[in-house]
Amino acid sequence: LKNRDVAAFIIEPIQGEGGVHIPEQGYLRQVRDLCTQYETLLIFDEIQTGFARTGTIFACQRDTVVPDIMCLGKSLGGGVMPISAFTTTEAIWDRAFGGVEKCALHTSTFGGNARACAAGIASIEVMIKEDLAEQTRGKGAYLLQGLRELQEKYPAMIKEVRGRGLLIGVEFNQLSGGFLNKVTGGKFNKIAEEYLAALVAGELMNRYQIITAYTLNNPNVIRFEPPLIVTREQLDTLLHALEDIFKKHTNIWSLILASGKNLIMK
Ligand SMILES: Cc1ncc(COP(=O)(O)O)c(C=O)c1O
Repeated sequence: LKNRDVAAFIIEPIQGEGGVHIPEQGYLRQVRDLCTQYETLLIFDEIQTGFARTGTIFACQRDTVVPDIMCLGKSLGGGVMPISAFTTTEAIWDRAFGGVEKCALHTSTFGGNARACAAGIASIEVMIKEDLAEQTRGKGAYLLQGLRELQEKYPAMIKEVRGRGLLIGVEFNQLSGGFLNKVTGGKFNKIAEEYLAALVAGELMNRYQIITAYTLNNPNVIRFEPPLIVTREQLDTLLHALEDIFKKHTNIWSLILASGKNLIMK
């Protein structure tokens, strides 16, 4: 930054696809201060964390850090409308797009679509009226606690549980195959490293009809991001299903067999 040739620093306040990583307390504040000092724009990508997902309307509020630009999407559409948004200060907007010669620099076919914007406004109204952020905090704490109890009970399976609000990631241990690894020339451990979470996610879907996703850049982490209106009973269903799976399958081989069987039955 000292060379003053960095236009912007872009970051998710909590990394979603990277495996649900929460920065250390004070990190975002220091980033803000450095960006201000060297006149680099700070962009927060709150597409995944925004709109009450993490227990405050925006995740950056928790650290009382204000970015120069914020990218928003996903929950803005209330789960029914595809809509994303870019928001910034008047000064930055004017510099980038102000005036007749610059106003058309950033256009898109569906930009400013009235119906999508109406859905966005309605979603924000519901979020505030029903205090979804408060609901997220309560339900998130409940789910986190349940998952941490499972981690204590099944430490061989779960390596770490991390998250805030209803953006929660469970990282699985990298089980290794000993003999099998030797026989397969190291391939078994490679599979075990990368696919345990996917196998658990597969079991959740095939046997318990619970849809989850592993994170794109960290396949050993399952993400739990239920809609904010999820009930505690539904969270219990998830916790019981996970416990069932951990009780039944104490090693990855058993999970591989279970998913293979499932494929054959279909
Ligand atoms: C953090 C984050 N940023 C950006 C995107 C991309 O958003 P869009 O698909 O609306 O372009 C995603 C999509 O998953 C995301 O999770």
